[in-house]
Amino acid sequence: MARVLVARRLPGDAVDRLAAKHELDLWSEPGPPPRDVLLNRIANAEGLLSTLTERVDAELLDAAPHLRAVANYAVGVDNVDLDACRARGIPVGNTPDVLTNATADVAFALILAAARRLPEGMAAVRNGEWTTWSPDWMLGVELDGATLGIVGMGRIGRAVARRAEGFGMRVIHTGRRDNDAALDQVLERSDVVSIHVPLTAGTRHLIDAQALAKMKPTAILVNTARGPIVDQAALAAALYAGTIAAAALDVTDPEPLPPDDPLLQAPNLIVLPHLGSATQQTRARMADLAVDNLLAALDGRPMPHPVA
Ligand code: DGY
Repeated sequence: MARVLVARRLPGDAVDRLAAKHELDLWSEPGPPPRDVLLNRIANAEGLLSTLTERVDAELLDAAPHLRAVANYAVGVDNVDLDACRARGIPVGNTPDVLTNATADVAFALILAAARRLPEGMAAVRNGEWTTWSPDWMLGVELDGATLGIVGMGRIGRAVARRAEGFGMRVIHTGRRDNDAALDQVLERSDVVSIHVPLTAGTRHLIDAQALAKMKPTAILVNTARGPIVDQAALAAALYAGTIAAAALDVTDPEPLPPDDPLLQAPNLIVLPHLGSATQQTRARMADLAVDNLLAALDGRPMPHPVA
């Protein structure tokens, strides 16, 4: 029996399977554990079930002399210093595949919401601005025949592409690796650009002022990957200047954005609170995968979903 620190309450019953075999230290407050609490509680832990709000870095690993496994409750592992884990021989696992469709659904919901101006329409109904049906009011753009550019054609990128084809969109994409020429073409030709690369040193501010300047003035930018992939100051400037038409974000940097962040005042912007994987089914499946990873590693077996 090992001592396992579980950083958040998780949907579903996967944590019961973990509790049946190991001694759990479960942080059950509504928000993430404060950093000092995390550093204190990790001292005795052999396993850690982290979420994207916990930074698993050298400082935390140094405070965890008994740690033998990290299971991250996310497909993205940008909150985990993989090199530092490797250097200490600590395996890291993630939760791929199970959130692909849920995240692609949110990406597509954002595409539709921005193209057809749904939040503006709702606001107009609520604040009484809508007085009557008008032939030329609140006109959006059609997706049929439009070009969707996918930046990062991995599992989620491909799932968004499948949805786009059903809407009659033409899909173009970059490869899975960084390639400036392919990215430029996607930015220049697309009516909607949707981001699906992981956050790494190479993709931080991948969409900067120069990249935004390559997009069509009628184009929509959608980000359901990670906030820091987009330079938000440059995005706000592009929205104010009208050099792109709209942006729809499920992720920001930081999360949440402070209420006075200038980006939130920018025109034609939709922001969601990181809902990509937020369905009952997906969050329970993510818990299953994270627990499977921990059970295997604490038992001395390879994790079924390893990243390092
Ligand atoms: C992930 O798994 O990386 C998602 O962002 C969680 O919603």
